[in-house]
Amino acid sequence: MPITKHLIAPSVLAADFAKLYDDIQMINNSEADWFHIDIMDGVFVPNISFGFPVMQAIAKYATKPLDVHLMIVDPDRYLKNCKDSGASMITVHYEACTHLHRTLAAIKELGCKAGVALNPHTPVSLLADVIRDIDLVLVMSVNPGFGGQKFIERTYDKVKALRALAAGVNDSLLIEIDGGVTLQNAASLLQAGANVLVAGSFVFNAADSMETIKKLKAVDYTLRSV
Ligand code: DX5
Ligand code: ZN
Repeated sequence: MPITKHLIAPSVLAADFAKLYDDIQMINNSEADWFHIDIMDGVFVPNISFGFPVMQAIAKYATKPLDVHLMIVDPDRYLKNCKDSGASMITVHYEACTHLHRTLAAIKELGCKAGVALNPHTPVSLLADVIRDIDLVLVMSVNPGFGGQKFIERTYDKVKALRALAAGVNDSLLIEIDGGVTLQNAASLLQAGANVLVAGSFVFNAADSMETIKKLKAVDYTLRSV
């Protein structure tokens, strides 16, 4: 494993957009590792979040990498825009990409880390032929589109299967969990093989968001062997 400690990526989707600057500073000053940026188009998912102008505004003040989760159809059209708006990691949905291998190459050519997101119904085995080409797999543990949903328990098995799929061919693969992450399920997810946790409502609805990030970062676990 290249990273010895798991990473925490608070989802800005759950921030208070009327005081976004304060929430950016909170993440900057916290033990969080990345900013998780959810871009939705109202077509791939039944919701619209925010677009590149807002992301640029976040990038201006963020002191940590922007981990961008594109929940949009035809993401190829926007990769350059995404990079130019401050992305370090760009994750596209498997279900939105006809030529996934080409899309991953295009992301890397821009100098970004390339990620693939899987909806809850998409089996990890579909990544077998590109697993070597991926820096990060984002496992959706809710159906994408909204924050604050209930965690899908089946996710643990998917994480284990994914870690097994990557074993020996991409041991540095980052496995990121997105949706319904709390202190209740964090340790089990990490133990199953995840190493990046996205948290939206759990962080921003907490009385003390910074302390909640600290607790997520401090979660202790023993990595299960694949
Ligand atoms: C949902 C987004 C998530 C969302 C997670 O489509 O991809 O990143 O913000 O929110 P919580 O942590 O509240 O489930
Ligand atoms: Zn997300």
